[in-house]
Amino acid sequence: MNASPLALLGGEPVNDVPGPHLAWPPIEETDHRAVAEQLRVAVSVPDRSGIVADLENALASYLGVRHVVTTCTGTAALHSMYAAAGIGPGDEVIVPALTFHATATPLFHLGARPVLADVDENGQLDPDDVARRVTARTKAVVAVHLWGLPENMDALAVFADRHGLMLLEDGSHAHGAAWNGQLVGSFGTAAAFSLNGPKPLSAGEGGFVATDDTEVYYRVLLHGQYNKRCRREIPAGHPLAPYAVTGMGLKLRIHPLAAALAHAQLPRLDGYLAGRAAVAQRMCAALERVPGIRVPRVPAGARPSWYALPLRYEPAELGGLSVDRFLEALHAEGATDADLPGSTRPLSDHPLFRTPGELLPGYAGRPRPAVGSFPAAAHVHGSTLKLPVWHRDQDFRLADAYTAAVAKVARHHKDIV
Ligand SMILES: Cc1ncc(COP(=O)(O)O)c(C=O)c1O
Repeated sequence: MNASPLALLGGEPVNDVPGPHLAWPPIEETDHRAVAEQLRVAVSVPDRSGIVADLENALASYLGVRHVVTTCTGTAALHSMYAAAGIGPGDEVIVPALTFHATATPLFHLGARPVLADVDENGQLDPDDVARRVTARTKAVVAVHLWGLPENMDALAVFADRHGLMLLEDGSHAHGAAWNGQLVGSFGTAAAFSLNGPKPLSAGEGGFVATDDTEVYYRVLLHGQYNKRCRREIPAGHPLAPYAVTGMGLKLRIHPLAAALAHAQLPRLDGYLAGRAAVAQRMCAALERVPGIRVPRVPAGARPSWYALPLRYEPAELGGLSVDRFLEALHAEGATDADLPGSTRPLSDHPLFRTPGELLPGYAGRPRPAVGSFPAAAHVHGSTLKLPVWHRDQDFRLADAYTAAVAKVARHHKDIV
């Protein structure tokens, strides 16, 4: 008879509450009312009025930036940001080698070349590798704030200045996260955010661009908000005004019902983040001394959004037990929302980055984005175990069950090596 207490081998699971264990965003009565009210008011908003203006004003004031333009997705926001920043054919933009692909894919649609730079042990841009990737064609460097941990924005700003590059941000994991007291999304020339389902601030589907630069703002409008909005907002004498009716030809507007949801969620964002910080601290404290597990090192000055709790898994300390087997054992313990990063992975894994010419004929025969190797991105990706981070005190029980499950599997790892 097998005496292992591991649920994978027939023992009692740590948690018997069935998943999913994290439903996001939390939908309250105010959300129902806001969306129902919007249904009554308008389901199409072609200019900067109504709920679109309300959401953009609220986001601009939250971030402390002059302009916000909402979009239908974060991918669209990134596309508009790059187009508005003047990124074009032959330009190079440095992005972290480890991110969700949409940080970089819109660059393909502008004829530009994403240049991947390796990351450090936190999955953030490695400054030395970024420096090695700069060429005469480099136009911008993009900070991503992976899993909600802010990049060192002071260092990146100094670097970008020194090399004459634009600093851009993809804040999709990091609404409300801050570096030295300044919110991410307010550092560079512009920032793009997703408002997709599980993001710290969610519209279900949506995104936005934030910028202080009015010329960039006009171009963001022209990229994806053509006709009425451009006609009403770009001053008549401006050299771009004649393009208002067509803009750049794309229509990337947010849906007003999605805008209503995000607008109802925004006043609760700081409460979500404070709750997540308390839960994350509790989980990190519980896991700090567990063999084989490293909790994230949060630099002084960083306020993360805790989009997830990314743990570094060290198989050498657990008799070589693979992370997949560890995860299988965690799931058996009832920690069913524990996960390995899937689509957020080294971009060089994707055929689109290795041989873009197969899908995008303009790239056939041109220098490929994924040249060189990205050992740290591969290592960080292959050794990351992701736990959900809840935001309410009543979820401490679940958070404790998850950390107890991790500790239990680590303690009994020998039973399943
Ligand atoms: C870092 C990052 N950038 C961009 C995106 C794209 O956002 P969306 O799914 O809203 O298009 C995502 C989505 O997961 C993301 O994680």
